[in-house]
Amino acid sequence: MQERPRIGRAGLGAALLLGAGMLAAGRGSQSAPAGAPAPHKPDVIYKGTPYPTVNAMLEVARVKKGEVVYDLGSGDGRIVIAAAKRYGARGVGVEIDPALIALSNENAKKAGVADRVRFVQQDLFAMDFKDADVVTLYLLPQLNRRLRPKMLRELRPGTRVVSHAFDMGDWKPDKTVRKYTVHYWVIPAQVAGTWQGTAAGGERFALDLKQTYQTATGTLRLGDRTLPLTSARLDGDRLSATAAGQSGTIRLSGRVRGGGMQGTLESTAGRRAWTATRDGAAGKPATAPPAAGGTARQTSRH
Ligand SMILES: C[S@@+](CC[C@H](N)C(=O)[O-])C[C@H]1O[C@@H](n2cnc3c(N)ncnc32)[C@H](O)[C@@H]1O
Repeated sequence: MQERPRIGRAGLGAALLLGAGMLAAGRGSQSAPAGAPAPHKPDVIYKGTPYPTVNAMLEVARVKKGEVVYDLGSGDGRIVIAAAKRYGARGVGVEIDPALIALSNENAKKAGVADRVRFVQQDLFAMDFKDADVVTLYLLPQLNRRLRPKMLRELRPGTRVVSHAFDMGDWKPDKTVRKYTVHYWVIPAQVAGTWQGTAAGGERFALDLKQTYQTATGTLRLGDRTLPLTSARLDGDRLSATAAGQSGTIRLSGRVRGGGMQGTLESTAGRRAWTATRDGAAGKPATAPPAAGGTARQTSRH
């Protein structure tokens, strides 16, 4: 563990001042229902992300107007408040500490975005955040790793994940902003398996894919030739792959849609459209969750 977030002086003062009597004061605050088990103590103590880093996180995620931004362990609400104020996003802060929920609601009111953000008092590991376009984190390395399978299983391919300070273990970031130690990932579609494709003109091919997070390996079978893929990568629901053909590189790009994939294949013979379906995938979406961890057919530990 490189850094353990600690409660900032201002945050501690605010949390102490707020006290238990103000827990229900925040407008729009949503607490655990009456009779529900009390949430456990925080898995990591509060420390706010510095504002320049908040900006870097939202910038690298390219947050757009109307998008839904979740901050898991939202502290004083600064990330979702900034997302609403600067980018016109809608924000959801998930926070276990009720004093911080109350403080967040006050902060949202002061910032004039109380109608576009909400703060939910809940354990982030139990939260349903499937509707997120962007998820932000400032937790701890082991918490990121614990959250990783839930995010890969539940978030839509293409959802952007940004973490301040900590990475995701062997799920390598798509981008890192070193100046602010901000890591960025895009949730990949799950494409492992054998895809039977037909290119325009009727030529049949098969694509055998193994996947580790956003990278894939495998082969392209064209007629009686089996060509190893020289590179294959997922960017959300988009696959791009290359294979070395007899007369040059074959470039394949595709987009996962429901149980199928469609795209284009480029070779010396020209550029052709193709469609494919995955073997044994009848009725199953190509975004189906892996059994555990990151991939449906794993090539490494998750
Ligand atoms: C390091 S702070 C980050 C605050 C905010 N995200 C930021 O970057 O400014 C982590 C926050 O996570 C909250 N937290 C810890 N465990 C949690 C859990 N299981 N569920 C929800 N929130 C949790 C803590 O109370 C704390 O406010």
